Amino acid sequence: MDITVKKSNRLKGEVVIPADKSISHRAIMFSSLAKGKSIVKNLSQGADCFSTLGIFKQLGIKTEFKDEKTLLIDSTDGIIAPSEALDCGNSGTSMRLISGILAGQNFNSIMVGDESLSKRPMRRVVEPLTQMGANIESKDGHAPLKIVGKDLKGIRYLSKLASAQVKSCILLAGLNASGETTVIEPYLSRNHTELMLEYMGADIKTGIDEDGDPFASIKKSELEPKNIYVTGDISSAAYFIVAGLIIPNSEVILHDVGLNETRTGIIKVVQQMGGDIEILDKKTVSGEVMGDIRVKSSELKSINIEGEIIPRLIDELPVIAVLATQAEGQTVVRNAQDLRNKESDRIKTIVTELKKVGADIEETPDGFIINGKTNLKGDAEIETYHDHRLAMSMYVAGMVCEKEILIKDFEWVNISFPEFESLMNSLG
Ligand code: S3P
Repeated sequence: MDITVKKSNRLKGEVVIPADKSISHRAIMFSSLAKGKSIVKNLSQGADCFSTLGIFKQLGIKTEFKDEKTLLIDSTDGIIAPSEALDCGNSGTSMRLISGILAGQNFNSIMVGDESLSKRPMRRVVEPLTQMGANIESKDGHAPLKIVGKDLKGIRYLSKLASAQVKSCILLAGLNASGETTVIEPYLSRNHTELMLEYMGADIKTGIDEDGDPFASIKKSELEPKNIYVTGDISSAAYFIVAGLIIPNSEVILHDVGLNETRTGIIKVVQQMGGDIEILDKKTVSGEVMGDIRVKSSELKSINIEGEIIPRLIDELPVIAVLATQAEGQTVVRNAQDLRNKESDRIKTIVTELKKVGADIEETPDGFIINGKTNLKGDAEIETYHDHRLAMSMYVAGMVCEKEILIKDFEWVNISFPEFESLMNSLG
């Protein structure tokens, strides 16, 4: 589906931000591992989470929607061998986390993905799982993954990447491995896995080790079924935050946004750029913090974004690039090389597409450099590269372009945020 996006004169109003994708995946996975009945409330409607749900159904888990967003998961009988390959679709989170679950089962399985997922690196999970005793065959480090179930043993793994997917995969394997499993990261990546496993009674501990690096350790545990309420996705809120800041005369309030500190890098960046952003209240639900955010149109200045903040805003960098085109001065993003391994090579794709609309942006090996403030001319045809975040970022860019833009294959937004366009229109 191709869509056109026109310049917006102002955004005003309030929206409830739909559920977090990362937390929704974990709620389905961990409830499926706990023996008994769990209820997941406010589940993401994104296609990626339905890939995870489809896989656990294939693994014998009984599920029933009580309403559109309330899912009952009955895992009383545990998971069983699948009769066909497990399809992760476009979802890296499904493939990487579930491989950690399947590696230690007493049955074999095969995981496959779509064209984009089949190009993404899987060695980062195959390698530590192999150290734990797993038997996984990949296609030169890529899907399909052929997993022969084995008994696993705990390891101490020093991860080179600050990746929640790698960390979570190892911890999930550790949940069913002998001994203790520890993952040490260079910087703390999102910690939803640790919080939810703790909430469900796992024997897990987290902290900072003697070298000052964050770690998480787990011992073999049974999970208790729980009610889990999924907080709103700050990565989805990011498009509204940026649009509210760069479209003149705007003021928007975003409700129920997840404010876990390992995800709020964008708020810090906006504050440093001089943006008018305010957290209105905070509460804790199912072990996660959530609250409301108010943003108003602002005069912005450039900043440098690098180091430990990168994993705290990794998925927001494409829309932060859009934000930087409207900030005075040179914004430099460094240490974000893993952006090249996302649903698309997000360094290349955001630079290519923003240049088309008139941005002054250059690619570097591990990020980009943007000179602002630029009057974006628009009048361009935008590619989406099977990448939901690129599609939504370019939509926001289109809202400040002089002339309208056409975005091709906009349906890719359905991967994480099917409600995006209608919610954005509700503020116009
Ligand atoms: C995710 C972790 C991040 C993020 C992805 C979702 C997760 O990936 O980019 O969209 O749910 O754990 P990495 O952990 O590989 O950085």
